[in-house]
Amino acid sequence: TETGSLSIVVLGASGDLAKKKTFPALFHLYGQGFLPPNEVCIFGYARTKITDNELRDRLRGYLVPGKNSSLEQSEEVSKFLHLIKYVSGSYDSKDGFCNLDKEISEHESLKSSAQGSSRRLFYLALPPTVYPSVCKMIKTYCMNKSDLGGWTRIVVEKPFGKDLESAEQLSTEIGELFEEPQIYRIDHYLGKELVQNMLVLRFANRLFMPQWNRDNIANVQIVFREDFGTEGRGGYFDQYGIIRDIIQNHLLQVFCLVAMEKPVSLKPEHIRDEKVKVLESVLPIKDDEVVLGQYEGYRDDATVPDHSNTPTFATVILRVHNERWEGVPFILKAGKALNARKADIRVQFKDVPGDIFKCQKQGRNEFVIRLQPSEAMYMKLTVKKPGLEMETIQSELDLSYRQRYQGATIPEAYERLILDTIRGDQQHFVRRDELKASWEIFTPLLHRIDKGEFKSIPYKPGTRGPAEADKVLLEKAGYVQTHGYIWIPPTL
Ligand code: BG6
Repeated sequence: TETGSLSIVVLGASGDLAKKKTFPALFHLYGQGFLPPNEVCIFGYARTKITDNELRDRLRGYLVPGKNSSLEQSEEVSKFLHLIKYVSGSYDSKDGFCNLDKEISEHESLKSSAQGSSRRLFYLALPPTVYPSVCKMIKTYCMNKSDLGGWTRIVVEKPFGKDLESAEQLSTEIGELFEEPQIYRIDHYLGKELVQNMLVLRFANRLFMPQWNRDNIANVQIVFREDFGTEGRGGYFDQYGIIRDIIQNHLLQVFCLVAMEKPVSLKPEHIRDEKVKVLESVLPIKDDEVVLGQYEGYRDDATVPDHSNTPTFATVILRVHNERWEGVPFILKAGKALNARKADIRVQFKDVPGDIFKCQKQGRNEFVIRLQPSEAMYMKLTVKKPGLEMETIQSELDLSYRQRYQGATIPEAYERLILDTIRGDQQHFVRRDELKASWEIFTPLLHRIDKGEFKSIPYKPGTRGPAEADKVLLEKAGYVQTHGYIWIPPTL
């Protein structure tokens, strides 16, 4: 492990992302000893002119001590807040960034045990429009200057552009300033426990390896539902829509892990090479394999235009042109204001050939990975119904995390990913060519939606979304519904 001073700079320190995600994640890392106070200083940077204490007061309410932390709760919060300093300045001015650099250097020289090496992490909790200018400022005024080693890294988050062209332009602008190993593009779904489990599951289990292909799998669904609308974010959301907000990034990353070939090794570049390959094997999306929806009431938001056609729901079928997956539909579905809040991967297997139980059966084998909430994996099986009669019933092999791993805490996605940025592990971050390939898949469809050539079907909040989406699922993707069976997460 590296030692030396570590400066973590959160730009956009008083914004929503910083308050709700970045600082709480840093706090949890601190509570678990990953941010030693003799090495670390956290800087908040934003335009507002406030004092260190004012920033600390704004953050306090968002910091909830973790279960495993040993310190008294309030003591832990105050100790953490004391690591934070605030610097105000604009996002394109020399003064602000020179000032920031001065503060960082001061901190570095104070850490006597640090022996001169300097690690500088810049977390851009900002709208992407300012990424280029902020990166320019960092590059010009705030780079690590120590001869004794260390690094400068930047962390950025979506939206990375709005389509292929704008994304590539953003990548080029940042790429002129920083090398790829210095850039950490966050997709927080890659920090979720069960998403991180995908490679282990697929490549460390003999049971799955021979099954995971077109010979056995009928279709795959990757589904994200939220039971609330765009509350308070209508203005942002309307510019993007559900495909750019969830599908092109979060669900597509999950898709990569489900569909990619086995990487040569666990090295980040090997893994990312395979992700790019599978993305490049995706065929153009067909019109009749897309259903868009918009929930009734979405346009009541004052920040949403009255005639907005922006989808808040979408089902899109992806088809992969390769030896493993030809003919297997991957259904990516996401929606706001639906009937539930959950995300899962559902792998449906084909019917049993020459089945002698056919007329009795309630459904096909399915392997479900519940990403959230109540993390679980369960396998739907047909078994004999216990009793004297020879009847079949749907049942499951169930690995529910809360039950199986009692007492284990599942870390927040951001916590894990920020730790990776400090450790220099890019495995769970999106590489530039991966980003490009993902925009290539969705850009033609997005352009047509933007031009109004593809209409969103209205649906009632609190439902499954437009009925047309279920129809596509059954007719185009050949999904077979299980009857008379529902998985119930075990309660403890
Ligand atoms: C964000 C989207 O990236 O992910 C939000 O912008 C969405 O619209 C959120 O609500 C969902 O994340 P999670 O971790 O709550 O599933």
